[in-house]
Amino acid sequence: MFEQVTAAPPDSILGLTEAFKKDARPEKLNLSVGVFKDDKGRTPVLKCVKEAERRLLEGESSKTYLSIEGSPEYGRAVRELMFGADHEIVRSNRACTAQCPGGTGALRVAADFVKKLFPSATAWFSTPTWPNHQGIFKSAGLAVASYPYFDAAKNGLDLTGMIAALNTVAAGDVVVLHGCCHNPSGVDPTPEQWTQIADVVLGRGALPLLDFAYQGFGRGLKEDSVGLLTLARPGAEMLVASSFSKNFGLYNERVGALTLVAKDAAVAETALSQIKTCIRTNYSNPPSHGGAVVATVLNDATLRQQWDAELAEMRNRINGMRTLFQKTMESRKTGRDWSFITQQTGMFSFSGLKPEQVDMLRDKFAIYIVRDGRINVAGMSAETMDRLCDAIVAVL
Ligand code: LMR
Repeated sequence: MFEQVTAAPPDSILGLTEAFKKDARPEKLNLSVGVFKDDKGRTPVLKCVKEAERRLLEGESSKTYLSIEGSPEYGRAVRELMFGADHEIVRSNRACTAQCPGGTGALRVAADFVKKLFPSATAWFSTPTWPNHQGIFKSAGLAVASYPYFDAAKNGLDLTGMIAALNTVAAGDVVVLHGCCHNPSGVDPTPEQWTQIADVVLGRGALPLLDFAYQGFGRGLKEDSVGLLTLARPGAEMLVASSFSKNFGLYNERVGALTLVAKDAAVAETALSQIKTCIRTNYSNPPSHGGAVVATVLNDATLRQQWDAELAEMRNRINGMRTLFQKTMESRKTGRDWSFITQQTGMFSFSGLKPEQVDMLRDKFAIYIVRDGRINVAGMSAETMDRLCDAIVAVL
């Protein structure tokens, strides 16, 4: 049977890291996958994570299964981090959370849940979006559609196009929005624009699904939740797929969450029972370790403070790299305006490079970025900046 199987194309992001590993050139630079690196090119384990792991190792007395929806302490910590402990959604218990294997796992559970309960829903995505988004929802059997988002001419948000498309969304459709640090463009709506987006999505009777994978990587933990909080109107429903890969550096622990916000606590509990059946028939129940680390840090005042500081350090490093990237490109006198680099937020910068230019960066200069032109700013360093910018100028 297997002889008839033809090869699948490599993944447009993770496939690049596979190719990068095979590249024998010593000067090679991987700015494709969204992974934070320090000045020395390392992806460190956060100190607060190490301390939480030490405590867990000492205190762990069993490896028995978690429940299908995972640890309740973790779920509570996730909701409090996203909405704030005093938010009406948290206090009223009209939200429930399932611990999921990464943000991707949370998205897939969301897609399975929607397909099972609302099979005729279409899932809407920004153009461009994270390349895996549509694949996840198509694999779950849902129809997908796109709304305009990025305006290449002004390197900013195409709000008019976005609102016009969202005005055609049917009641019961799912609108996938990037909570902050839009991947790949780095362009986020302003608070006023979020209000307009929420008015249309909720006004159409569509279900917003926030992909919230970068909280704290943009402007700050609170500042980055402006979109989420704008959508969290009294009685309004939504789904949130969140991830701790980036802000806790827990990439390989696969720790994420799917949070469902319903009209009231009873509706949320009933909906959770359906989410649980989706999980049970997929991976049964979640892995424990990553969630335990996150809950330990978020529920301990000292560790929480340490995490805030370490997160700020990562954010500041990324923003420092943005400034240096812009300055270095400007010093090359290309005749182009590079100010968009420091206006974008989060891990990524949308360089505007064409696929052939991206290929040339890889083939001639051993620099790997995603083919849509996305560069991982969090992977840049002062040491490699001149080489990167010279290579970009050469391919331009
Ligand atoms: C990315 O966009 O690079 C990350 O979210 C990693 C991934 O799984 O694609």
